[in-house]
Amino acid sequence: MVSDRAIGIHDLSFATTEFVLPHTALADHNGTEIGKYHVGIGQQSMSVPAADEDIVTMGAAAAAPIIARHGTDRIRTVVFATESSIDQAKSAGVYVHSLLGLPSATRVVELKQACYGATAALQFAIGLVLRDPVQRILVIASDISKYDLDSPGEPTQGAAAVAMLVGSDPSLVRIEEPSGLFTADVMDFWRPNYRDAALVDGQESITAYLHAVESTWKDYTEQGGRSLDEFTAFCYHQPFTKMAYKAHRHLLNTCGYDTDEAWLERAIGRTTAYNRVIGNSYTASAYLGLAALLDQADDLAGRPIGFLSYGSGSVAEFFAGTTVPGYREHLRTAAHQEAIDRRRPLDHTAYRELHGRSFPADGGDHPTPSQTTGHFRLAALRGHKRIYEKRWTH
Ligand code: CAA
Repeated sequence: MVSDRAIGIHDLSFATTEFVLPHTALADHNGTEIGKYHVGIGQQSMSVPAADEDIVTMGAAAAAPIIARHGTDRIRTVVFATESSIDQAKSAGVYVHSLLGLPSATRVVELKQACYGATAALQFAIGLVLRDPVQRILVIASDISKYDLDSPGEPTQGAAAVAMLVGSDPSLVRIEEPSGLFTADVMDFWRPNYRDAALVDGQESITAYLHAVESTWKDYTEQGGRSLDEFTAFCYHQPFTKMAYKAHRHLLNTCGYDTDEAWLERAIGRTTAYNRVIGNSYTASAYLGLAALLDQADDLAGRPIGFLSYGSGSVAEFFAGTTVPGYREHLRTAAHQEAIDRRRPLDHTAYRELHGRSFPADGGDHPTPSQTTGHFRLAALRGHKRIYEKRWTH
């Protein structure tokens, strides 16, 4: 069953951080053989936020080019997906709404379910467009992945935001029905409210992810979805890029195929280019996979792409999207490469200093050091309030 209503991703833009830590610096520090990082988990470097960056500044930076290109007129909803929330009550999206000068006649909300949140946001946006096809929804997925220093998760850190404009007659990717769904109550990865860094049972998390892959596929098939060999590529959630290969190998085997390494590379390889150098951006990760695929593949017009969104805890969804003819004219390939290339390398000592930073909880005036050169910055925490500044106009 494939819906003939054309709703999907009209524009996509991402932003990442001011700084980058190459995995060679981490390996030099902890004595790990670099092959474990470069080959074993498939990571080259990780984005590290400056002291004056957070999910809001990244989210605003990702969305600003979309506003510059399309204006604000048809946007009546902003959905901000994150698991790195900065406030228990106020949506990070309200700060972004203000920084971008969006109309007051807008609803703004924050969504959370680990790395699955952006997919929930995308599906909710599609529902709103079904009700009112003129509306466009701004979906922002923004996360900072943080584990304890010297823990097994440390080399899988990263940070980025992806902004997507969702609407009817999309220019990039049309999202199809049905979806394959799966929820299971597991403690593979979580972050209690009193902790900055996530807790994780690494091997359990990989097992839970693979179980979610086969379970969503089973439901997708039962709902009347496409057959496996119709897909040209697969955008998996990539906590580290090797995980996408593990997941797809598992899916092939579940469907009774032998693992054909060339087929695996064709299906996954092009989706890993950004995540390999940015690291885990949690809920943004699968959509960074899509950005990498669209930016690098030869013409994919009309070709089905599979999406597997996994959020620990856990909720997962498999769905399909089809690239729209002419989509290449709407890509932001040069800007995406620039977002990666402009990052400044950190040495290991500076990285650890940034990792250890947190705001005092005393309600005082705590300005941040001016480190980022981006369009938006977190200037201070003053009287328990986050103060943002912008150097961007549209
Ligand atoms: N050269 C090449 N490969 C090497 C190597 C070398 N010198 N040394 C080791 N390797 C390989 C290992 O063989 C292994 O490969 P396989 O998985 O294919 O067997 C790989 O490198 C990793 O080695 P280990 O399993 O020994 O690594 P580890 O125990 O230190 O931790 C990890 C790996 C569990 C992924 C850890 O980084 C972690 O806990 N990460 C955070 C959790 C996570 O990302 N989970 C993913 C699923 S959950 C999810 O997707 C949600 C989310 O975003 C968190």
